Amino acid sequence: MTALDPTAERAQRPPAEVRYADELAKLAADDGDPRPPGWALSLRAARRFILGDPAAGIRRKFVGDPSLIDRALVALATSRGLMLVGEPGTAKSLLSELLAAAISGDSTLTIQGGAATTEDQIRYSWNYALLVADGPSPRALVPAPLLRGMAQGRVVRFEEITRCPLEVQDCLLSPLSDRVLAVPELPGSDAMVFAREGFNVIATANTRDRGVNEMSAALKRRFNFETVFPIPDLATELELVEAEAGELLRRSGVTVPPRRDLLEVLVTTFRELRTGITERGDAMERLSSVMSTAEAVSVAHAVGLRGWFLRGEAGDAADVVACLAGTAAKDDAEDLARLRRYLEQQVSRRSGAQWQALHDARHLLPG
Ligand SMILES: Nc1ncnc2c1ncn2[C@@H]1O[C@H](COP(=O)(O)OP(=O)(O)OP(=O)(O)O)[C@@H](O)[C@H]1O
Ligand SMILES: [Mg+2]
Repeated sequence: MTALDPTAERAQRPPAEVRYADELAKLAADDGDPRPPGWALSLRAARRFILGDPAAGIRRKFVGDPSLIDRALVALATSRGLMLVGEPGTAKSLLSELLAAAISGDSTLTIQGGAATTEDQIRYSWNYALLVADGPSPRALVPAPLLRGMAQGRVVRFEEITRCPLEVQDCLLSPLSDRVLAVPELPGSDAMVFAREGFNVIATANTRDRGVNEMSAALKRRFNFETVFPIPDLATELELVEAEAGELLRRSGVTVPPRRDLLEVLVTTFRELRTGITERGDAMERLSSVMSTAEAVSVAHAVGLRGWFLRGEAGDAADVVACLAGTAAKDDAEDLARLRRYLEQQVSRRSGAQWQALHDARHLLPG
């Protein structure tokens, strides 16, 4: 085991195939259904891995429309890639990780897109010492995720693809359409890498960044697009936040679970500030900052940490206010004022001890 081994016990967040290794092994052992060439599981087993199957002891990992999962899996069995688009924090990255873990048993062939991403980081680069000593040879080649995925027949994840320069995105064109990658520096048959069965690409793009509109039409045609929506109802979102924050707190060494009544207030607050509609259906001001489920989970985690490590308890409404400020006022100073008005005007009308405590703690907002 090396310091970089993702299975290392103290990894903060091991990849899905390590976290759920027991479930994947069980699903594979029981899987009698037909599977596409190169896949580690059948579509039906992959679906159960992602959406859960309580009777078989498989946890639900992604909350959402089962038909989205079916479409995503079918898309990946075709000769086009899968593009997951949606608001920030709707679990696009999580879903792509789970899909890759289910299909290839490996979610780590990942390219992180950004303004400075280069083709070398996507396709391949060279070990310059060997290149200078021996000239171009397969030994001197350093494969990046795309080349490895093609050579090994695995799913490659391309995160935040639209943040990359257009010409860099376009290096996916021939791997996706002709299923081949040229390495012109190498002689003979090494100059072409043909994708093995099981290779495909899952890209994610977030609607708040530079949009998919800027992607070339040629590349768009090579992807099936699927939109991932926020969780529609309060009860489901609350259940998810409770489970996820509970797990994060356990891993952080906190031994008291988060309080359910406080989480209900927290999740309701996030939903109202996100949508600009109260749970009763009245219109109110929404924030321009991202108030996603992923952010709600991280605030619930921070609230539990504050309570436990500062005072030895579960965390309270004052911790929620203290943590909300850092989430809600990231890119727009006006959001802090909107949050203050929410705590003063909306929260004061609610009944319940935790709502009252949230209102009483409003002075903890900075500024
Ligand atoms: N529908 C959902 N099912 C399961 N977890 C969810 C869901 N929505 C949000 N989450 C939470 O959000 C976290 C994942 O967020 P993730 O980073 O995958 O979102 P994202 O859509 O990729 O965001 P970004 O656009 O910022 O990259 C999960 O770990 C989970 O806590
Ligand atoms: Mg993401």
